[in-house]
Amino acid sequence: MNKKTIEDIELYGKRVLVRVDFNVPIKSGVITDDNRIVQALPTIRYVIAEKGKAILFSHLGRVETAEDKAKSSLLPVAKRLEELLGQPVKFIPVTRGEVLESAIAGMKNGEVIMFENTRFEDIEGKKESKNNPELGLYWASLGDVFVNDAFGTAHRAHASNSGISTHLPAVAGFLMEKELRYIGGTVDNPLRPFVAILGGAKVSDKIGVIENLLAKADKILIGGGMAYTFMKALGHNIGTSICEEDKIDLAKSLLEKAKGKIILPVDLVVTKEFANDTPFRTTTYGDIHDDEMGLDVGPKTIALFKKELKGAKTVVWNGPLGVFEFANFAKGTRAICEILADMKDARTIIGGGDSAAAAIQMGFSDKFTHISTGGGASLEYLEGKALPGVESLDDAEPCNCGCGCNN
Ligand code: 3PG
Repeated sequence: MNKKTIEDIELYGKRVLVRVDFNVPIKSGVITDDNRIVQALPTIRYVIAEKGKAILFSHLGRVETAEDKAKSSLLPVAKRLEELLGQPVKFIPVTRGEVLESAIAGMKNGEVIMFENTRFEDIEGKKESKNNPELGLYWASLGDVFVNDAFGTAHRAHASNSGISTHLPAVAGFLMEKELRYIGGTVDNPLRPFVAILGGAKVSDKIGVIENLLAKADKILIGGGMAYTFMKALGHNIGTSICEEDKIDLAKSLLEKAKGKIILPVDLVVTKEFANDTPFRTTTYGDIHDDEMGLDVGPKTIALFKKELKGAKTVVWNGPLGVFEFANFAKGTRAICEILADMKDARTIIGGGDSAAAAIQMGFSDKFTHISTGGGASLEYLEGKALPGVESLDDAEPCNCGCGCNN
């Protein structure tokens, strides 16, 4: 990685601003998936161990109205973090002003505070999300150094990441470093064979990823809703299955460009209604009736994908293979989790968003090399795009050997 990391700077006695991505799902005040908090612990613990003063902050949801604000406090997150850390996390219920400033002024080395949702600053004029320079400068004034550990937000140029980086020494935290290594480094320099698995509803969400991976992967296995646009491009009847009509020509050209690298499902689980409790059957993709839609891949596809994955040394997976939220249509996604969990000799990397949520929900959270905490960010990074939250960090010193390795 060509950026400085938290290990490159002195933290002792410093006010360390740590941007985390604690944009976690919360239902009725209860966090339903704390993966992003757990994954940020190494950086927070390191700041504590080095006797820095850890000032944490994050966004949570989109905040545009007073109603959004009322349900987007980070207080439950601070409480969960306190449990996980096993030490007090003082929550400051504002994003600026005297209360925050005096709390920081009173911090002792090794203490942790967290301030309120950075997007509360969006209510009047989207200051956080539009990277308002005054806000970035103000937050920077609260610290001595800036550590960005929020990979999930790195595709945004906001005041709480790029805005602060302009004014302070700015380095990557351990989670950011890990994400860049796995999602970026592994894809750019894969151990081969390298197989990508792509799913999810829409081809349009993954065009950039498919194009980037066509040049790098040895095989691309496609399932999920996006597979139907490809099947239609091949002239098959897909009934009422999800299809992006305006992407059929694109799907055709991707298939041509792929020269056999793209592998599509050979059988599907189809039904007449988009619901769990509805009759379903398994069929080949040449035999979907006009009133049926596919909601999962079938057993022959699972066997085919397993065969294609055999012996792979690098696997990147992004997007579920079926509607895993419905138990009757979750088998394909679960099977992929099981196959990858058994591939002990391979690097298995799960892109964030729905595939990460599925893997965690199904009990596979510790079975892969890495599960990304980034949804949109991991997708953009897989497309090969530069991420503003990473670009704005300080460059690492050039390497001693002159080859650009940063050693
Ligand atoms: C995410 O959940 O993908 C990140 O936290 C970014 O959130 P956003 O899409 O609201 O900017």
